[in-house]
Amino acid sequence: MAIHYNRENKTFTLSTKNTSYQMKVDTYGVLIHTYYGESVGDADMSYLIDLRDSGFSGNIYEAGNKRDYSLDTLPQEYSSSGVGDYRITSVSVRNPDGSDAVDLRYDSFEIVPGKYDIPGLPALYGGPEDADTLKITMKDRVTRLCAVLYYSVWEKQDIITRSVRFYNGNEKPVILKKAVSMNLDLMHGQWELMHFHGRHCMERQMERIPVMSGKMEVRSTRASSSHHHNPFAILCAPETTEMAGPCYGVGLVYSGNYSIQVEKDQMNQVRLTAGIAKELFAWQLDPGAEFCTPEAVMTFSGEGLGRLSSNFHHIVREHLCRGKYKHERRPVLINNWEATYFDFNSEKILEIAKGAADLGVEMLVLDDGWFGKRDDDTSGLGDWFVNEKKLPGGLAPLVEQVNALGLKFGLWFEPEAVSEDSDLYRAHPDWAIHIPERRPNRSRYQLILDMSRQDVRDYLYERICAILDSANIEYVKWDMNRNISDVYSTNLPKERQGEVCHRYMLGLYELLEKLETRYPDVLWEGCSGGGGRFDLGMMYYYPQIWCSDDTDALERIRIQYGTSFGYPISTVGSHVSAVPNHQTGRITPLSARGIVAMAGSFGYELDLNLLSEEEKEEVKEQIRSFKKYYNLTHEGEYYRLTNPWENQLYAAWEFVSQDQTEALICGVQMLAQPNSPSQHIPVRGLDPQKQYEINGNGQILSGRALMGGGLNFPRQEGDCMPVEFYLKEKK
Ligand code: DGJ
Repeated sequence: MAIHYNRENKTFTLSTKNTSYQMKVDTYGVLIHTYYGESVGDADMSYLIDLRDSGFSGNIYEAGNKRDYSLDTLPQEYSSSGVGDYRITSVSVRNPDGSDAVDLRYDSFEIVPGKYDIPGLPALYGGPEDADTLKITMKDRVTRLCAVLYYSVWEKQDIITRSVRFYNGNEKPVILKKAVSMNLDLMHGQWELMHFHGRHCMERQMERIPVMSGKMEVRSTRASSSHHHNPFAILCAPETTEMAGPCYGVGLVYSGNYSIQVEKDQMNQVRLTAGIAKELFAWQLDPGAEFCTPEAVMTFSGEGLGRLSSNFHHIVREHLCRGKYKHERRPVLINNWEATYFDFNSEKILEIAKGAADLGVEMLVLDDGWFGKRDDDTSGLGDWFVNEKKLPGGLAPLVEQVNALGLKFGLWFEPEAVSEDSDLYRAHPDWAIHIPERRPNRSRYQLILDMSRQDVRDYLYERICAILDSANIEYVKWDMNRNISDVYSTNLPKERQGEVCHRYMLGLYELLEKLETRYPDVLWEGCSGGGGRFDLGMMYYYPQIWCSDDTDALERIRIQYGTSFGYPISTVGSHVSAVPNHQTGRITPLSARGIVAMAGSFGYELDLNLLSEEEKEEVKEQIRSFKKYYNLTHEGEYYRLTNPWENQLYAAWEFVSQDQTEALICGVQMLAQPNSPSQHIPVRGLDPQKQYEINGNGQILSGRALMGGGLNFPRQEGDCMPVEFYLKEKK
């Protein structure tokens, strides 16, 4: 068992292969956090707790005159609110008597084999061979509010997941105003926060900043995890590198409003919390009712950021992504969006499909514009009926012809959105989220359907099934092109309006689950104007997500670099598009666009018929190599070899097979310089004892030599020039 309770010390120790996590029930029933880091066995780590009398940090009543015992300075497992801890609260309520206090004390525990589920929410999955679960019940003895702290321990993967289940034991309703999924208190050390911010077309830009005294927050209140801040963060020591040093990673398995807060307190201790944002949230918990927080996934690595990312990559690939395409090779696709935008008909699509099939592409994806009155983005969303002016006879004849070319067929939807100029909106204006008497904020000319409504979900389910059943559709791209505002549901009473955003997510997850159960063989790709909802919550439903609307190779290097900290390559939708690039106007070689897109689930987003014969040959070669290296890139270990924020001249990354018999090192010389020094990169993850041949050219070096010496990029002229080294074990 990876979970051990020591009755004498009252400590709970969660052990994984390389880490220990410990908490302890103290004299007053407060659950204190004593340790998270390198394995320490089950030693009682509470010797580290250094109680001090600090001015203006009060003492709980039971501590009498013990002035050194204060919730305000103690490391805790799940911080209370309004009873003497002035730091970030884990929970906040409005009690039946109007007060705000929550004082959670230890009540009982249970250890069960296997992984817990969270009703209605995505979460890691696994059997008793994968994980064990600890449930600790905490109670407020006055209000009878209970919080059951769930921990699943993934021994092999060095992962701990957390979620909290609230139960109202009172005979009157209580309003939950805040309920985070996890709280981590670090007593010692200097820490830096790594977070992943950005904007549309520029998602997950990595920033690493010292944790200063006071509070920092990464969050979204857009009812979507957002382009602007990803629900994933890392705390690391200033000396932590890719290869060495301590670091903690936290990712939320949630796609709606969230907040990750970090506070350095008066004692230089650091608290990190992650969960649903408290803005736009107030959940009425009726007597006997339960509320479950989303799941938080945590890992600790004492061996740098590379190991931390690897832990996330493994757990996401094996225990979050599901379905046929969890491991099966994803087809190389061509998407018509940047080739045609809204201006297409069956002939044009078939031309694109033919050209692509000749070069080895395996699936045609028909993007926005195939339904309703949809010739631009001002109308049609919600009318999920085929536009027969563009596609005479519906989808079936087109899909049959595409299939006859040897291509699968995929289709775009944006189910959560509605255009005011649509039959759906004219029939059901109340289905769109808006506040009565107030004109709603428009974004991309569209409004959002209220996914908390059963009738909305039923309509979407019926329409999507009707379309999917009308032809052989083997892929769905589920897009979402605006963020929420004017939060209100005409379906909920006024005292429940604070529940709309979370109920929206619950409704969306329910619909996705229903559809995926009905169509288990469909490949689902998530999208939200690119990577606006690139999060662990969505990965439970889609094994890949369109990473960004920015397909420029240079920009993508930074976007994919940031993305790789928390998410595996297999989840990254990445395409080769035309030049000049539609987002930046930049011209980059096809070869560089190819090598960058191959660090993802690969495809094309242009009309391949417009390429020269030479370029077409290059595309054929790219597809061959994507297929050849698929196992390496999608199932292998991924290593970041350079940091594109520090090194603006060249970037490199590496894939190593799990058995270390082959490796692929990819790079791009981003900016050429005259008389440049050698562009040197490290090599990682090889077996030091094995011999490797480089690029099949007869040059053989041991793993030890290659990892000791690294490699030099060959000298090339020009910006954005790709580099590839393939290392194969030579026996
Ligand atoms: C945004 C997506 O990210 C694009 O790929 C494309 O599908 C458009 N929406 C279509 O409206």
